[in-house]
Amino acid sequence: MSAQHRHVVVAKAAEIPPGGSKIVEVEGRSIGVFNLDGEYFAVRNACPHAGGPLCAGVRSGFVRSEGPGHYEYLRRGEFLRCPWHQWEFDIRTGQSWFDPQKTRVRRYDARLVAGAELLAEEEKLAAAGLQKGPYSAETYPVRATEEYVIIEL
Ligand code: FES
Repeated sequence: MSAQHRHVVVAKAAEIPPGGSKIVEVEGRSIGVFNLDGEYFAVRNACPHAGGPLCAGVRSGFVRSEGPGHYEYLRRGEFLRCPWHQWEFDIRTGQSWFDPQKTRVRRYDARLVAGAELLAEEEKLAAAGLQKGPYSAETYPVRATEEYVIIEL
C-alpha cells in the first residue's frame, strides 16, 4: 500500500456480495461501493449533473442489436441511472454515457484485502511511530480472519 493514499475500510467483504452494493459515509462524503462479479468499485454518490443521489439509482446494462430480431444484453447491472434526470454512468469507470465528452463522476479505487494484511500494515506504521488511524474505520475493528473492502482516498 502506498503512503500517498489513505485506505479506509468501508465494509466486511460479506456485506457486499457479487451484484450487491453499499452506500458509505467517509469523511463527510457519501460513496457507493459496488461488487461487480467479485471486483469492487467505488463511486461518489453525487451526480455531476446536479448533485442527485446517483448511487441510489437503478442499475442496468447495455442492449446491443445487430438487426431486427437480434439483441444482446451486455454488462448487466454495470450502469447506474441517476434517479433525478436519468443520466447514466458506467460503474467501472465513472464515465457518463449521456454526455460522454464532458462528464464523469468521481470514482475511487476499491479492493478486497485480508484482515491479516491490514493488521500487518498497522503494525508497520506503529513501529515507524505513526498513530493508528487510516487503515480501519472505527466501526470496523479489523480481525485477521476476515476480508474487508477498502477504498483509496
Ligand atoms: S442530477 Fe443526476 S441526472 Fe441530473
